[in-house]
Amino acid sequence: ASTLGAAAAQSGRYFGTAIAAGRLGDSAYTTIAGREFTMVTPENEMKIDATEPQQGQFNFSAGDQVYNWAVQHGMRVRGHTLAWHSQQPGWMQSLSGSALRQAMINHINGVMAHYKGKLAYWDVVNEAFADDGSGGRRDSNLQRTGNDWIEVAFRTARAADPSVKLCYNDYNIENWNAAKTQGVYNMVKDFKSRGVPIDCVGFQSHFNSGDPYNSNFRTTLQNFAALGVDVAITELDIQGASATTYANVTNDCLAVSRCVGMTVWGVRDSDSWRSGDTPLLFDGNGNKKAAYTSVLNAL
Ligand code: XIL
Repeated sequence: ASTLGAAAAQSGRYFGTAIAAGRLGDSAYTTIAGREFTMVTPENEMKIDATEPQQGQFNFSAGDQVYNWAVQHGMRVRGHTLAWHSQQPGWMQSLSGSALRQAMINHINGVMAHYKGKLAYWDVVNEAFADDGSGGRRDSNLQRTGNDWIEVAFRTARAADPSVKLCYNDYNIENWNAAKTQGVYNMVKDFKSRGVPIDCVGFQSHFNSGDPYNSNFRTTLQNFAALGVDVAITELDIQGASATTYANVTNDCLAVSRCVGMTVWGVRDSDSWRSGDTPLLFDGNGNKKAAYTSVLNAL
């Protein structure tokens, strides 16, 4: 195969990218994206601040722009994200308690109704676990509404659109030995045992020198899959874009039958949220980097 999407399809997987609505007018960008990828995650356009800027007033213009571009190019879409401590609009940041809990439920219902039947996956809850080595929850206004906020989000989401796969998504849960990984694993295990609806876990995979790739990532993917959920690499970027590390990550996904696909967090290095790390598969001029060839050959 000569593109990432076609190569991934050989094993029934997708290969995706984050797409920013603001770049859809850049033909160099859309040429690469349209050619290489088969799944799209809107980089910011379906987040809470974008979709409900004022309480109860939904705005899907940017989200729809990305969605329509993806569908016009034969791609599927991963919704990102319904409940998160970050990129909340001001009105939500200032809510707490039962008012915030109800606002979260209303938000999930409002956004999911608009995209009902249209998306492949939703990141229902993003980044809810702490980085402090405790394996516990991150402190946030949502967490302070009660520990059951995550399962309430998932139950609300399932009722709102039974057709879309519901995912938990987080970073620094790739290393099996990390307390954060164990915390998320135990939550998913608990959800499965109690019938809380969860279909998939997304591993963001933002690797850098402080949080490097570890070869036990494959073990992590296998162990989560064994709980009965699909797994996916959802926001891959690697500081310096080592071709070897990109191949290792690709091979880890391919080794796990329930690893359904992988998504890189942007097209060219110049499109990256951390462009100084040159972490992607295409350079700023749109040229394929060594990491691109390495991934293509691994797929
Ligand atoms: C980032 C976007 O890439 C930036 O454009 C934005 O300013 C901040 O968010 N984890 C996530 C993504 O789940 O939504 C984040 O995306 C990167 C980290």
